[in-house]
Amino acid sequence: MNREEAILRELNLYPLWQRREQAQSVLEQVTAVVQPVTEQITSKIVVEKVDMQNLDSYDWPKLQALVKNCTACTLRASCTQTVFGMGDVRADWLFVGEWPGADEDIQGEPFVGQSGKLLDNMLAAIKLKRGHNVYITNIVKCYPPGNRTPEANEIAQCVPYLDRQIQLIQPKLIVALGETAALLLGHGAMLSGVRGKLHDYRGSSSYSLVKGIPLIITYHPTYLLHTPLKKTEAWDDLCLAVATMQGLV
Ligand code: URA
Repeated sequence: MNREEAILRELNLYPLWQRREQAQSVLEQVTAVVQPVTEQITSKIVVEKVDMQNLDSYDWPKLQALVKNCTACTLRASCTQTVFGMGDVRADWLFVGEWPGADEDIQGEPFVGQSGKLLDNMLAAIKLKRGHNVYITNIVKCYPPGNRTPEANEIAQCVPYLDRQIQLIQPKLIVALGETAALLLGHGAMLSGVRGKLHDYRGSSSYSLVKGIPLIITYHPTYLLHTPLKKTEAWDDLCLAVATMQGLV
């Protein structure tokens, strides 16, 4: 077995039988849908309702209660429960996804569906385990009706909660998963231009007190489930994350 096969087996991704042309056309379709949405979102990030200055005084239980009872946008009224995050609140590793799906809405925990299984395999491939020196959360804490992409103002209302979580956890490294997560950079950057590199996260709103934290952006597990040929690039990103954590980068 060559190195690539061994890695893909480790990620539970082998064998890959998808034809290249098929994978490419899926990629093009996804890009065609996601790109305009991303542009729309990034052009409009403004924080109106959540009082960020006030959030600085919120400890973990107070923040959790605030998110649970949030009325900053309409998503909370339609979801079953908020999905605040799970894991070690003193973790070195923070994984940030996009928004909870239907399974997460029912269970109240991030990444518990199919994409969560792949995320667990990705963690295992770099010798990590959910809850052990790892915290997992999403940018948006409520399930959007029908799993639609959250709107710009909904993301903007939620991002300060994530920034406060980051301030409290003080992770050594953030791994952002997917296109909406790429917005963490705050430049409206497309995923293709920002993944596979080391960035410096300083918060997503002008109020943020997050100090520079190394940030790596990679593909979302759901995308990888549909586009397995991208899994080797995701593996490269994970290797960069491990090297960064070990102080080798
Ligand atoms: N996708 C995400 O981005 N987060 C989840 O919690 C589940 C699916």
